[in-house]
Amino acid sequence: MSKRTYLIAGNWKLNAGAQDGLDLAQGIADVAKGASNVDVVISPPLTVIAAIAATIEDAESDVEIAGQNLYPKSSGAFTGEISAAMLKSAGASWVLVGHSERRQLFGETNTQVREKIEAAVAGELRPIACIGESLEEREANKTLEVVFEQVDAFADLLKENPGNIVIAYEPVWAIGTGKVASPEQAQEVHAAIRGRLAEKVSAEVAEKTRILYGGSVKGENATELLGCADIDGALVGGASLKPEGFGQIIAAAQKL
Ligand code: PGA
Repeated sequence: MSKRTYLIAGNWKLNAGAQDGLDLAQGIADVAKGASNVDVVISPPLTVIAAIAATIEDAESDVEIAGQNLYPKSSGAFTGEISAAMLKSAGASWVLVGHSERRQLFGETNTQVREKIEAAVAGELRPIACIGESLEEREANKTLEVVFEQVDAFADLLKENPGNIVIAYEPVWAIGTGKVASPEQAQEVHAAIRGRLAEKVSAEVAEKTRILYGGSVKGENATELLGCADIDGALVGGASLKPEGFGQIIAAAQKL
């Protein structure tokens, strides 16, 4: 069986939320042209999602938009929150869930991550569910214990949505630090996650599910990471804020 379609997703975090975001989206639409065999997603701040959706449409680009977070309820007294339907109506078709910054800085639990994935799927958004261990956990040899617990919290939801829920393995110690996991380290965890899906859900779901790597991915290391058998794409932070850098990662996926 041929490898799953690569997905390259850019997580802008708390950056590029005004005209700079529109310019960046335009630049990414330009560099992604012709990469028809790679799925490209950008995750801008909420305030510019609708305007970026229009920019992308005008550019006749296939780039898709992800929210960075959502609230699992559809409406009500939840000041400051945003629902799946609101994201979708703004122009998003994907949403990041459980990014390590949300888990660490905002106390998101595995239970909440599950609820958010359920809400995303119900609202016809495709979730990118983020998991990963801290440096302390890796050094204590707890990597697989931690990521299995994170995956187990939502694995059964993949059964009815094979292919529509994407997992992003992002070792916390590699995010924004310039310390990328070696291809061997990343592949080892990716293969273990796929094995866990086979065990907990089914071999078919495990085979179909895209597992992205995230943590200091850039043009220079993209080819060797994406070349690993169980790495199906990248979730890119810092290097997604410049069209050239992000374009190099898309090009690497395209060539593989
Ligand atoms: P980074 O961020 O590429 O800047 O390490 C990745 C992420 O947080 O998703």
